[in-house]
Amino acid sequence: MFKSYRNIMLSAVVVAAASTTLFAGSDASRTYANGKKVIDGGVTYPVKHDMTSLYHVNTKAHKSSFKIGRQATPDEIKAWNIDVMPDGTGLPEGHGTVEEGDSLYEEKCAACHFDFGTGGAGYPALQKGNAYEGHKTLTYQRVNGNDEGPIRVFGTYWPRASTLWWYIKTGMPHPHPMSLTDNEVYALCAYIISINELKIDGEELDDDYDLNREKFLKLVMPNKDGFVPKIDGKNGVENARKYFNNFKNYGNGTRCMKNCFKGKPVLARISGSGISDYLPPISEKKDLPKKKAGAGAEHPGKKAYEASCAVCHATDAMGAPVVGNKKDWAPRIKQGMDKVYNNAIHGINGMPPKGGTSLSDDKIKEIVDYMVDASK
Ligand code: HEC
Ligand code: HEC
Repeated sequence: MFKSYRNIMLSAVVVAAASTTLFAGSDASRTYANGKKVIDGGVTYPVKHDMTSLYHVNTKAHKSSFKIGRQATPDEIKAWNIDVMPDGTGLPEGHGTVEEGDSLYEEKCAACHFDFGTGGAGYPALQKGNAYEGHKTLTYQRVNGNDEGPIRVFGTYWPRASTLWWYIKTGMPHPHPMSLTDNEVYALCAYIISINELKIDGEELDDDYDLNREKFLKLVMPNKDGFVPKIDGKNGVENARKYFNNFKNYGNGTRCMKNCFKGKPVLARISGSGISDYLPPISEKKDLPKKKAGAGAEHPGKKAYEASCAVCHATDAMGAPVVGNKKDWAPRIKQGMDKVYNNAIHGINGMPPKGGTSLSDDKIKEIVDYMVDASK
């Protein structure tokens, strides 16, 4: 139930993103509207008025419009358009201190994210100490397979601070999203920035640091260059190619389905961000359940019993203890299982050694286990 809310939030963002990435321009298949080159070789198709789309549109079949739906009103768009961009778009004015954030956090967040954002019990940590040491960035971990970093929390992993404001405002606290005022969100951001030991304009955030919009936009995240390859500038396209051609940036270069890594995987699993509040709970086990003796599953000795032993042991005609008859078996079990195994293997009275078979000792023991289990 919690998860689905988040998914709605995400799709809202996807919709917003999709509507702003239409391509335009004279050489539309190579260039974005903002003049940047298309780097992935993706094809774009003309629609009209120099606009293009990622899908072929049959403009002849739909002469002027598709005649479905209607134009969204500015208010409708405003209601959906709640994301906060790194350049400050969508980020309202407001302010709050670390201290205010601290007590808000105690009240509304610590129950899940624990004291000082240390996380646990399936809830993500919100800090993992000083993020400025280079080895805690994503790139470092990808290349070196180092599972000390990046620790995938806000301070070490997220490339943009704006996501923090947006995430808290629209998604937290988990059961009551959109319940916090803008000032409360600033206070919580101040607190989270401080426990991540991040600096704004070279300054650490002490208790009475009052975070506002202007200061927040100055926060530079330690992992800002490690999250996606640099594709800006003159050599942007080449840089991106180089990045993606180096398998070490995202894997170990071997295509495989299992046992892919010798030693530790280069890409570590996202840890500490599992969610445990699904109903019914979701299993993380991927193996099939093992067949167990007893209810439902067949005992491993049953088939061989039927093939080699039932001829004498299914009835008392041969003087053999009948499988399923407690009275027949109780005194024999009492001798101790070693003795019973031994008699079955070496024979006793009318019981021929191994029942006349050439099965291994272990197999005979397995069958005896079945006979005894079925006769208790
Ligand atoms: C009822 C439990 C709960 C409460 C209370 C709660 N959270 Fe969360 N929070 C979660 C869960 C679960 C996630 C992970 C959601 C996901 O990944 O889909 C999360 C994720 C986050 C993240 C993103 C972490 C990351 O690195 O991906 C931030 C930031 C966050 N919460 C901040 C807060 C703040 C601030 C508060 C208090 C106002 C708060 N949370 C209260 C359960 C909670
Ligand atoms: C030709 C008939 C016959 C066959 C086939 C046979 N049994 Fe028996 N079994 C007997 C008889 C008769 C006894 C009773 C012996 C006695 O205690 O006097 C017996 C006794 C046993 C006992 C009890 C031993 C004890 O300690 O009291 C076990 C266990 C046993 N059989 C296992 C097997 C297994 C396992 C097989 C198949 C691999 C098998 N039997 C096949 C006739 C047979």
